Amino acid sequence: MIYEPAEDSFFLKKHIKDYAKDKRLVLDIGTGSGILAVEASGYADKVIAVDINPDAIQYCCDNVKNSNIEFRQSDLFSAIKGNEIFDMIIFNPPYLPLDEEEPEDSRLATTGGKKGYEVIERFLSEAGNHLSEEGIILLLFSSLTGVNNINRLILNNNLIYKEIDRQHIFFEDIIIYSIRKNQ
Ligand SMILES: C[S@@+](CC[C@H](N)C(=O)[O-])C[C@H]1O[C@@H](n2cnc3c(N)ncnc32)[C@H](O)[C@@H]1O
Repeated sequence: MIYEPAEDSFFLKKHIKDYAKDKRLVLDIGTGSGILAVEASGYADKVIAVDINPDAIQYCCDNVKNSNIEFRQSDLFSAIKGNEIFDMIIFNPPYLPLDEEEPEDSRLATTGGKKGYEVIERFLSEAGNHLSEEGIILLLFSSLTGVNNINRLILNNNLIYKEIDRQHIFFEDIIIYSIRKNQ
C-alpha cells in the first residue's frame, strides 16, 4: 500500500517552499507518492527521496519524471552515502501509536511503533550526521505521538526545535517543527 496524500501531507507541503528555496541538496524520507519531493524539487537543485516500501519507490519511478529527483529504497538513512550531506531533510513519518485495529498493510505508513515515536527516535539519532551545519529538518508529528517525547528526543540528540505550525484534525493536533543543529 502506498500512502495516499492526506491532511498531514498537504499541511507539510505548504511549508516546503519557504525552506527549500535555493537549497543545494534535499532529502525527503518516507516519500510515499513523492508529493513532498516533487514540491521541494521546484525550489532546490536536487532532491533524494527514499522510502522503506519498495512499492512506493516503484510507483515514484514510474510516475514522477522530475529530472532533479532521485528515488531510492531505504530504511531511513541506510541507502544514504557518507558523503551525501543535506541542506534540508523533510520527514512526514509514521507517527501514531500501535492500534491493533489498524490493517497490517497500512501500519508501515501510519504506525511509528508501540508508543508511536520509535521511528522518529531512530531518525533523530541519525539525522545530525547527514545534515549540513546550517541545515534544517522539517518534521511533522501528532499530539498523539507526545510532544514531550519528541522534545526530549530532539534535545538528547543535540538538536534544537521551533514549532512552525499546528493544525487540529479529528482527535489530534498535527505539528510541524523546524529542527537545527545546536551550535
Ligand atoms: C505518513 S506517510 C508519508 C508519505 C508522504 N511523504 C506524504 O507526506 O504523503 C509515511 C511514509 O514513511 C514510510 N516509512 C515508514 N518507515 C520508514 C523507514 N524506516 N524508512 C523510510 N521510510 C519509511 C512509509 O512507507 C510511508 O510512505
